[in-house]
Amino acid sequence: MSGSETGAARPAITSQGAARPAINSRLENLRNLVPAERLGKVAEAVALGDGELEALGRGGLPLALANGMIENVIGTFELPLGIATNFTINGRDYLIPMAVEEPSVVAAASYMARIARAHGGFQTSSSAPIMRAQVQVLDVADPHGARARVLKDQDAIIAAANARDKVLISLGGGCRGIEVHVFDRTPVGPMLAVHLIVDVRDAMGANTVNTMAETVAPIIERITGGVVRLRILSNYADLRLARAAVTVPPEALKTEDYAGERIARGIVEACAFAIVDPYRAATHNKGIMNGIDPIVVATGNDWRAIEAGAHVWAARSGRYTALSNWEIDGKGHLVGTLEMPMALGLVGGATKTHPAARAALKILGVQSAQELAEVAVAVGLAQNMAALRALATEGIQKGHMALHARNIAIVAGAAGDEIETVAGALAADHDVRVDRAKEMLEALRGGKG
Ligand code: COA
Repeated sequence: MSGSETGAARPAITSQGAARPAINSRLENLRNLVPAERLGKVAEAVALGDGELEALGRGGLPLALANGMIENVIGTFELPLGIATNFTINGRDYLIPMAVEEPSVVAAASYMARIARAHGGFQTSSSAPIMRAQVQVLDVADPHGARARVLKDQDAIIAAANARDKVLISLGGGCRGIEVHVFDRTPVGPMLAVHLIVDVRDAMGANTVNTMAETVAPIIERITGGVVRLRILSNYADLRLARAAVTVPPEALKTEDYAGERIARGIVEACAFAIVDPYRAATHNKGIMNGIDPIVVATGNDWRAIEAGAHVWAARSGRYTALSNWEIDGKGHLVGTLEMPMALGLVGGATKTHPAARAALKILGVQSAQELAEVAVAVGLAQNMAALRALATEGIQKGHMALHARNIAIVAGAAGDEIETVAGALAADHDVRVDRAKEMLEALRGGKG
C-alpha cells in the first residue's frame, strides 16, 4: 500500500467499507468496442450493480436530484465519461473514470499507464487530510501581542471548534492546531489571520472548517480585542498533499521513429522549459490538470477548489513554475514526480448525491479520500508524461487530431457508421478540417445513393 502519513493502515481511516478484491486494469481492446460493451467489461471487472449500470448508462442525474443541488435548475448537462485503463498504483490496479470533453486525454493516460505498469507502475503517498480555515481579525491595536495571546489560549479555541462536530471527532478527525499570521500593513491597517488546522478525514472539508471558523470567531474577538470579518476555508491546501512518482527505463519509451534515450531526454528538456518560464508552466500544468480534473468531475468533487490549490502551490516560491519534475536517474531511467494539494472528498456534496459520481467511485474502488487524492495525482503525472512525450517528439497534433477527427466528422454532419469512416479518412490524410469532412461525407453519401 501507499506511504500514507497518517500512521494507520489505509482502510482504518475510512468509513467506506472493506477493500475490494484486486482487479486487472489491463482491459485490452476496450477501445474497439461500442460504449455498451465497454460498460459491460468495466461492470464485470469491478462488479457494478444494476443501479450503477443504470446511472452510467443513462447519464446519471435525475432532474429532481439536480433541482435539489443548485438553484434555478432548467435541466442537466452531460459530459462523456471514459475509462483510462492500465493503471497500477502502489502495486494495485485501478480503472480510472474520467469525465472530460477533450479528445486524446483518456487515450494518453492509458498509454503512459501501459508503459509504467511494466515497470512497477506509479508509487504514491500523501499527508493526512488537513485543511485550513481562516479567521480575519481587524482593528487590533497590538497584532503581535494578540498573536501571542491567541497561541497561549489555543487549547480553548480548539476545544470550542471540536465541540461543533462530534461525528468528525468519532472518525478520528478534528481541529489539530492554530496558526496566527500577522500582516503589519494592509490597505485597511494591521490584520491577523488566525488559521484553524483541521483533519477532515474523508470529507473535502469546506463545510466542516467553515462552521468551526464561525464557531470560534467570538472567542478570537475576545482574546485579540479586534473585530472578526471573514471566516472561511483556504483553498491553498498546502497541508493536504498527494504525491506520485514513476520510473521507466528509456527502452520502454522507444518508438519506430525515436530512440528511448532521445524521448527521455526530450521529456526532461520540456520540463526544464516549464520550470523556468511561466508561459510554458501554465500549459505544462494545464496538461497535468487534464488528467486530474476529469477524475474530480467524475467523482462529484469541487474542481474549482482543486484548480485554485494547484496554481497557488505552483507559485508558492513567489514565481509560478512547473508542478512536476522529470529527471534521469543514475541508471539512465526517466523519473517523474508530482506533489500538489489535493482536497478531495468521498463523503458529502455531489459525491454522495450524484448517482454517476457514486458509480465512478465504485469503479475506482478507493477506500479513503487520501487514496482518491493519490490516484488523481498519479493520473495527472501520467497525463503530463504523455503530453511531454508527444511534444518532445512528433508534436501534440498528430495523436490529438487523429482522435479529434471524430468530433470534426460529427460537426460536419456525420452520423452512425459515417463518423468512424470520415474520421478515419481525415486522420489518414492528416487533414482534420470540417470543410474536408463535409466533402468526404458528400462523397460517401453520393457513393451510397
Ligand atoms: N482509445 C483508447 N486508448 C487508446 C486509443 C484510443 N483511441 N489510442 C491509443 N490508446 C492508448 C491505449 O492504451 C493503447 O494501448 P493499448 O490499446 O494496448 O492499451 C496505447 O494508447 C498505445 O496505442 P497506439 O495506437 O500505439 O497509440 P499512438 O501511438 O497512436 O498514440 C496517443 C496516440 C493519443 C495516445 C498519443 O499520441 C498521445 O499520448 N498523445 C498526447 C495526447 C495528449 O497529451 N493529449 C492531451 C491534450 S492535447
